[in-house]
Amino acid sequence: MRSPFRLRQFQPSDLDRVIYINRTCLPENYPSFFFMDIFKKYPETFIVAEEDGDVVGYVMCRIETGMPSLRSLSFSKRGHIISIAVLPEYRNRGIGYALVSRALRAMTLYRASECYLEVRVSNTPAINLYKKLGFEIKGTIRRYYADGEDAYIMVRKINP
Ligand SMILES: CC(C)(COP(=O)(O)OP(=O)(O)OC[C@H]1O[C@@H](n2cnc3c(N)ncnc32)[C@H](O)[C@@H]1OP(=O)(O)O)[C@@H](O)C(=O)NCCC(=O)NCCS
Repeated sequence: MRSPFRLRQFQPSDLDRVIYINRTCLPENYPSFFFMDIFKKYPETFIVAEEDGDVVGYVMCRIETGMPSLRSLSFSKRGHIISIAVLPEYRNRGIGYALVSRALRAMTLYRASECYLEVRVSNTPAINLYKKLGFEIKGTIRRYYADGEDAYIMVRKINP
């Protein structure tokens, strides 16, 4: 039987492992300073999942300011899920769901009122995960990814 996973905030000693997971799971990769810059600015929404002492997944987010809709004149804060991945052998056990749920809760600490993300139109596991979490597809960005694939923009309100 497998041990239960636990969630905690990213810490700098996780950097190499998170970079390894990112490169194993996704074609969108980043230099170490990018991960550290996000951590320094938004530590509450950079979460890792740990099992038996090993980090097996992460979610990394940014908080941005923008117009929530054309009908509103006020600028509001939005969470942006930049990257999430769970190592293949740890998938389908609720880790991705738990990571995003925790990040959404933490976004309230930065006063974000909604959360958005981009996802490849072919990435059914991720799209289903986000739909299960209450995200809706709000648009498509043509050729968003380096290989020419389109992205869906998915959005969800955050309740304080
Ligand atoms: C997307 C990803 C993070 C999901 O992580 P996970 O820990 O396996 O997800 P969970 O076990 O929490 O699954 C939650 C829901 O996601 C959906 N889902 C997950 N894997 C799925 C699959 N292979 N096929 C269809 N739906 C899937 C289901 O709706 C699932 O709910 P259910 O178990 O009630 O059916 C993981 O597949 C991954 O790391 N993929 C590679 C990286 C990636 O694509 N990141 C997203 C970039 S936008």
